[in-house]
Amino acid sequence: MKTNKFASARAQSMPNSVFAVMDDAKAEAADKGLEIIDLSLGSSDLNPPKAAIDALSQAVVDKSTYGYCLHSCTRAFRQEAAAWYQRKFTKQINPEKEVLPLIGSQEGLANLLLAVTDPGDIVLMPDPGYPAYFGAVAVAAVRVEKMPLSAESGFLPEFKKIDSEIAKKAKAMIISYPNNPTAAVADNNFMQKAVSFCHDNNILLIHDFPYVDMVFGDYKAPSILNQKAGLKVGIELYSSSKSFHMGGFRMGWAIGNSDAIAALKQIKSAIDFNQYLGIQKAVIAAMKSPIEKTIADAHIYQDRRDVLVDLLNDAGWQVKKPKASMYVWAKLPKGLNNSVDFAVNLAKTKGIALAPGRGFGELGEGYVRFALVREPEILKQAVDKINEFLD
Ligand SMILES: Cc1ncc(COP(=O)(O)O)c(C=O)c1O
Repeated sequence: MKTNKFASARAQSMPNSVFAVMDDAKAEAADKGLEIIDLSLGSSDLNPPKAAIDALSQAVVDKSTYGYCLHSCTRAFRQEAAAWYQRKFTKQINPEKEVLPLIGSQEGLANLLLAVTDPGDIVLMPDPGYPAYFGAVAVAAVRVEKMPLSAESGFLPEFKKIDSEIAKKAKAMIISYPNNPTAAVADNNFMQKAVSFCHDNNILLIHDFPYVDMVFGDYKAPSILNQKAGLKVGIELYSSSKSFHMGGFRMGWAIGNSDAIAALKQIKSAIDFNQYLGIQKAVIAAMKSPIEKTIADAHIYQDRRDVLVDLLNDAGWQVKKPKASMYVWAKLPKGLNNSVDFAVNLAKTKGIALAPGRGFGELGEGYVRFALVREPEILKQAVDKINEFLD
């Protein structure tokens, strides 16, 4: 980083994103006149439920939505989030004490760490992991203990390998399944183990859970909150970005342990005034809309997954079909191991943008992540160009 006379040590400790390097590579390709197929970002291209857009349109011309929205004004949202959770996981949630609206789950995670840790506290975090985690721990100035995720362990952390002294001192653990970037999934048994480990060690278990609805076939993504002791130690972060394809609207919600929710509410009260009420109404409408659309949208991602994975395997990559998420996590073909060089050169010469695995942590090296955010025929064009690049 260049020296910046105003930047705090905290700001300077923020990791540089390899996505900025990718952005430059895409711009260079566009300047050369190449058509860009951007599979590097997990921004859903599908439509939100119509009811959500209708609700927002109505709200925008309704003067009663224009003012500051303090906590009591979020009650309808909290009640609907609790009902939405109960429909999915058959567990009753208290909308007064166990739900909090967020301005996106990313905001929620960063503020949650500020709410439940002090500088220097230990946070257990996966590597590879969603890049915002690396920023959030830098903002909170906590000490990170990485939980390595490897193909051999199904990209799940192995709790028995965590040093018992570190476990005793840790304040929080972050997990996220269906996972970004690895697209790995967890079952109920794993979630119960995670809850029990955190319960035994007095750790807050943060389950970043934006991909709850992007699931394929018979697979249903488990919640931590309906495990035994789940609400004693757990909090989950949900997102309208993934469940309803509303990334730009910036709305998420936290559900979980009432002390963690209260601490998060306290920190947020110094930082924001909640999302615009019209957007809350839009997400309420999305939550109430028929589950059939959510299922159909997941099918679209599943079909894209099938097309992409089959084409990659035909071309000699070795990729398994994930059971959930909007990603394919692929080990680079034999002989290649620098994911940033691979992704930057591919983008510059062919206009195909993928996310280099290194951007998700040291242990992401050697992989690239494809986001399934384009139609099957475009995915095919992308693989054709990758094949030309590798020839
Ligand atoms: C694991 C994970 N958490 C959080 C987010 C951010 O979601 P939001 O748009 O709700 O901030 C993403 C977005 O891609 C994600 O993959």
